[in-house]
Amino acid sequence: MSSIQSQFLDLAVRHSRYPAIDPRSALKDSARDKVIFITGASRGIGQATAVAFAEAGARAVYLTARSEDALEATRALVGRANPETQCAYSVCDVTSAAAIEAAVADCAARFGGIDAADANAGYLSPWTKIGESDPESWWRTWEVNVRGAYHLIRFTLPHLAQSAKRRTAEGRSGGHLILLSSVGAQLLMPGASDYQTSKHAINRLCEFVQVDHDDDDGIKCFALHPGGISTELGRNMPQALHAHLVDDPELPAGFAVWLCSGKADWAKGRYLSANWDVGELTALTDRILQNDLLVNRLRAQV
Ligand SMILES: NC(=O)c1ccc[n+]([C@@H]2O[C@H](COP(=O)([O-])OP(=O)(O)OC[C@H]3O[C@@H](n4cnc5c(N)ncnc54)[C@H](OP(=O)(O)O)[C@@H]3O)[C@@H](O)[C@H]2O)c1
Repeated sequence: MSSIQSQFLDLAVRHSRYPAIDPRSALKDSARDKVIFITGASRGIGQATAVAFAEAGARAVYLTARSEDALEATRALVGRANPETQCAYSVCDVTSAAAIEAAVADCAARFGGIDAADANAGYLSPWTKIGESDPESWWRTWEVNVRGAYHLIRFTLPHLAQSAKRRTAEGRSGGHLILLSSVGAQLLMPGASDYQTSKHAINRLCEFVQVDHDDDDGIKCFALHPGGISTELGRNMPQALHAHLVDDPELPAGFAVWLCSGKADWAKGRYLSANWDVGELTALTDRILQNDLLVNRLRAQV
């Protein structure tokens, strides 16, 4: 495995929820009156994220995935976390533009808008060298991870732009978009070409969303590494890497609430890791902005 260490920050590493990102205390009510749209909310990180936004006082969370029973289970967890948070879902595949367009329209019709969107649905196939890979499976990874994220971005953007304007007028922050990335976006691990290139593209897509929709639309987009979590997707990695799956799903869930609270707006358009302590990260604001860090660039200095 080769890596580019200079692309990672040397900060205190968090593995579970801690006070600064706790939606039940420091971030309590930060999602008050807000509507959150999450793909891949039937289990794992997406499910924990739905619960965290309910804990942070969201008015509504809208869930999508392909498994209806599992979406019902998430809805029950949301109701238990906060009976005031409304919850609805749509059973759909993120690779279908029409299905995501319809789900976004349904969410906006039910709840009157969308304040934050979380492109969380993901796919990781068993790792294989490019020359031995199955073409359908290789491309399926890009379809779910990149095309799926694109669909969510494309159809939620008008609602997010409205939220940005409305929340600014209220003295708050709105229009947040989270794209689930991976630490693998900057790694070169043999056999992971489909997944790691798809997440590298997600980081760049995040930068493009920011370039296209910053000033006029007020969008705040982040590419988020959630940590290493023992989910169905995570356990699809080779057995030797399972030792890295040590983080709680509540870590990225709380981090996502923090990203949508307005406290991280300065970092829009960048890759962030949920493992990084948000206090230490915030202390680096000026250095990150001055040096334009945490973005994809070709290394060409000799
Ligand atoms: N776990 C980790 O260590 C880790 C590390 C880095 C990045 N990530 C990223 O974090 C995100 C969440 O992953 P996870 O670990 O929570 O995995 P997970 O527990 O396996 O959940 C994946 C979710 O995506 C949904 N999904 C998959 N394919 C879909 C499709 N075609 N259409 C709609 N929904 C689909 C699944 O629901 P249905 O099957 O019901 O559709 C499920 O809700 C992914 O983007 C992943 O790449 C995870």
